[in-house]
Amino acid sequence: MKIRVLTLFPRMFDCLNESIIGRAIKSGKLDFEAVDIRAYSKDKHQKCDDTPYGGGAGMVMTAQPIYDCINAVDPTHEYVRIYMSPKGEKLSDGLCRGLAANDNILLLCGHYEGVDQRVLDLCIDREISIGDYVLSGGELAAMVVIDGVSRFVDGVLGSAMSHEDESFSAGGMLEYPQYTRPPEFMGRKVPEVLLNGNHKEIDKYRKQQSLEITARLRPDLIGKD
Ligand code: ADE
Repeated sequence: MKIRVLTLFPRMFDCLNESIIGRAIKSGKLDFEAVDIRAYSKDKHQKCDDTPYGGGAGMVMTAQPIYDCINAVDPTHEYVRIYMSPKGEKLSDGLCRGLAANDNILLLCGHYEGVDQRVLDLCIDREISIGDYVLSGGELAAMVVIDGVSRFVDGVLGSAMSHEDESFSAGGMLEYPQYTRPPEFMGRKVPEVLLNGNHKEIDKYRKQQSLEITARLRPDLIGKD
């Protein structure tokens, strides 16, 4: 999958070079680049924001650098173009899976009080929010989308890992608790059933744990799928 992020702060995305996503980028499963919008500004000081028409607090990102940046990165509109915004559709497991089916995604990150509406109307296909709170910019939200989507891209989670057992995947339930060595820690033992090698019993125990945990922590998820 090809992912392009358009941002005024490309270095914020350096942290994607770590862990699972970092490995997927190194191995070529993900082709990722953070593109600096400022490089496309035609202003003599490379300004990318201005005061809002009609007054009000803060600054608004100007249309020209974003418009030119999008058209340089995606001249033939091969990418799904997404604007990160608290006004967007709320991110979910289903939305991550759906986005992972695309070959190319482009994420535009706003800053300050937002982006001139005209460039959104001209260029953007959809808006995505990561939750009902306002961040100072779209960058952290874009990283959440990249991580959540990439895990559904073939080959990103090695064969030893699976997302099918995880929370929201297993029939829309939360995941059962996990344990590893040692069998006893600070007087607390690993549940006996996990040590006996009986996979039918283990499966049954895990399903029951998932159900109990979901009922206790997220009753709204039960019966949703
Ligand atoms: N930009 C600012 N707040 C955001 C949010 N909650 N989701 C996505 N992008 C954002």
